[in-house]
Amino acid sequence: PPLSAMLNVRDFEKVAERHLAENAWAYYHAGADDEYSKAEAELAYRKVLFRPRILRDVGKIDTRTQILGHDVSLPIYISAVGIAKFAHPQGECTLAAAAGHEGIAQLCATRSSMSIESIMKARTGGPEQPIFFQLYMHKDAKISEATILKAVKAGVKGIWLTVDSPVTGKRERDERLKANVDVGEQNDKIGGKGQPIQGVAKTLASTVAPYLDWNTISYIRKLTNLPLVIKGIQSVEDAVLAHKHKVDGIVISNHGGRSQDTAQAPLLTLLEINKYAPHIIKDKKMQIFIDGGVRRGTDVVKALALGATAVGMGRPFLYSMASGYGEAGTRRMIEIMREEIEQNMALVGATKISELRRELLNTSRLERD
Ligand code: FNR
Repeated sequence: PPLSAMLNVRDFEKVAERHLAENAWAYYHAGADDEYSKAEAELAYRKVLFRPRILRDVGKIDTRTQILGHDVSLPIYISAVGIAKFAHPQGECTLAAAAGHEGIAQLCATRSSMSIESIMKARTGGPEQPIFFQLYMHKDAKISEATILKAVKAGVKGIWLTVDSPVTGKRERDERLKANVDVGEQNDKIGGKGQPIQGVAKTLASTVAPYLDWNTISYIRKLTNLPLVIKGIQSVEDAVLAHKHKVDGIVISNHGGRSQDTAQAPLLTLLEINKYAPHIIKDKKMQIFIDGGVRRGTDVVKALALGATAVGMGRPFLYSMASGYGEAGTRRMIEIMREEIEQNMALVGATKISELRRELLNTSRLERD
């Protein structure tokens, strides 16, 4: 279908399912075990209801914000997704080009199918375009050190350490196909053609270090002064610990339901932080991000009203450029999100992001659950 016929984020998913190779769809779409957490992440947004405010002059809506000190036009960013070239030959570079034109931020994965240098070169938003680097610590710390320094040299604006996958979740959809495919360049030089046949995720994960602890934070801090974000916070306790360790940001995430199945929805974790540790929401020194199951402008507005600075989206960006759509598809999807966010800010009675507050939401259903 022509891009003008794509009306929402899910339309891209439906079309991508028809066009992607079977093993690419399995790798992208998979959640762990019974895929309960994956479904629950989306459902949680529907359990939160709006209390729209009226007569507030919403003639002009401003969706701009700042992520780790960088201006962005929208409070959504492209989350780290491995092997984007299954969706489009230029993979992560295509995403970088679209993000630059639309003024949004991007998190580049260690497991990208393009090198960090080529992704940085594909920027269309100038040297200030915010691209961050997602880090998987390698079993061999020396390799990680080189990976971090390479990303810093390439000009990334921050390091986001993924902590929710000390071991890889069991993704049966992916494993059943036992893919033996070319997974591209990889920023820490693993994978590639001719890997043992065991599914894409397992092939990629075989080098991830399971022994990380909070000392890893100071280890990375010694290598670079760039902002440091922890990706994969799943409890109030760990959000508080991250705050004590003075990281620049956290991502409340369970890896899109790809790690531990039946882990609770990220939105519920954010709600619990509001309830039990409101001081870390108020302290703007540590920004809070959230990802998993975000498919609508309403989802974004709800997460922001609960104190998130911005919201990550993973699978939708892969699907947006699949089906031959490339950069135009990704830009169309961002435009759809922009329209939905603007429309729903107006409908709830907020003209700028700072006006999105908890009082605009009824969270009792999610709390009761
Ligand atoms: C991911 N995710 C991920 N996260 C990360 O920190 N490093 C990575 O390499 C990857 N790779 C990856 C590949 C694919 C195919 C998917 C779908 C996801 C997780 C990702 O950053 C994000 O947390 C989720 O995708 C968010 O959920 P949604 O938006 O896909 O529902």
